[in-house]
Amino acid sequence: MGKTTSSSGGKQGLGWMEWLRGWLYVIYEMLFQRISASHLQNPLPLPPLHDLSCIITGSTSGIGLQIARQLAEAGAHVVMAVRNSKAANDLIQKWQSEWSGKGLPLNIEMHYIGFVDTEDMNVVSGKRKYTSLVGYSSSKLAQVQFSSVLHKRLPAEAGVSVVCVSPGVVQTNVARDLPRIVQAAYHLIPYFIFTPQEGSRSALFAATDPQIPEYCEMLKADEWPVSAFISQDCNPTNPSEEAHNIETSYRVWEKTLELIGLPLDSVERLIEGEEVKCRYGGQPEE
Ligand SMILES: NC(=O)c1ccc[n+]([C@@H]2O[C@H](COP(=O)([O-])OP(=O)(O)OC[C@H]3O[C@@H](n4cnc5c(N)ncnc54)[C@H](OP(=O)(O)O)[C@@H]3O)[C@@H](O)[C@H]2O)c1
Repeated sequence: MGKTTSSSGGKQGLGWMEWLRGWLYVIYEMLFQRISASHLQNPLPLPPLHDLSCIITGSTSGIGLQIARQLAEAGAHVVMAVRNSKAANDLIQKWQSEWSGKGLPLNIEMHYIGFVDTEDMNVVSGKRKYTSLVGYSSSKLAQVQFSSVLHKRLPAEAGVSVVCVSPGVVQTNVARDLPRIVQAAYHLIPYFIFTPQEGSRSALFAATDPQIPEYCEMLKADEWPVSAFISQDCNPTNPSEEAHNIETSYRVWEKTLELIGLPLDSVERLIEGEEVKCRYGGQPEE
């Protein structure tokens, strides 16, 4: 779900049909996600990942925390990119003491990445008044659209796979800033809602399944307009019709680079080995 704008000044937002379709899809996903993902084990079994290095954002709670923990447990070198360095350090210490009891090495570190200002999300939401729900749904659509342009701009030789994932509807802190009715829905139907461990499976699958790079290459060769998208049951799926809007996707791409202070040819420059700096990041908080 999300809002689309057009540079021609015509359509300025999603019509009620698109909103209704989006909400019906969320309700359908919530009611049937347990059935559609019933073939998956929980936790998702991972192969040994000693050669893998991972940077996990939002890893102090919810799905990100589970992803970081499970990848580290499988032997990956995990970098937790966080805004709350104290919470991350506490987690690392906790996991280190748990794992040392099992005789397992833990290769995990924390990096402070600063705070993404929600005022910035306002720009993506366009001229409409910012609300948590519009901001949230627009940000999800924008992530898919940004990823689609990244997928298109990266040459196949770069060997980088761009994949979006849906974790499903997951019991985390995600609803804390959303309207009360959404928060209530999360508490009223606990059976239907995934635990963070269940919600982490699609991201872990996308990060570790050996068929993913092949799948991304196939999409590139077919000039498919959107990046790979893996659903909560770990199957490839097609994102919403709005995500296929190339014009909006390029606007999201340009606006994002502008907001974080990156030049428009950042991808090409990084591939050439040049150093490119953005305006986020900084010193750890006291
Ligand atoms: N839960 C669901 O049903 C669901 C469904 C679809 C998609 N998702 C997406 O999955 C991702 C993870 O969410 P979650 O459910 O695990 O929620 P969560 O428990 O609230 O975790 C969010 C993480 O992101 C960090 N974060 C939040 N706002 C930030 C900001 N402005 N700048 C930097 N870091 C920030 C939080 O850090 P702090 O600890 O510092 O607050 C936390 O580590 C989100 O993108 C969410 O939209 C979730």
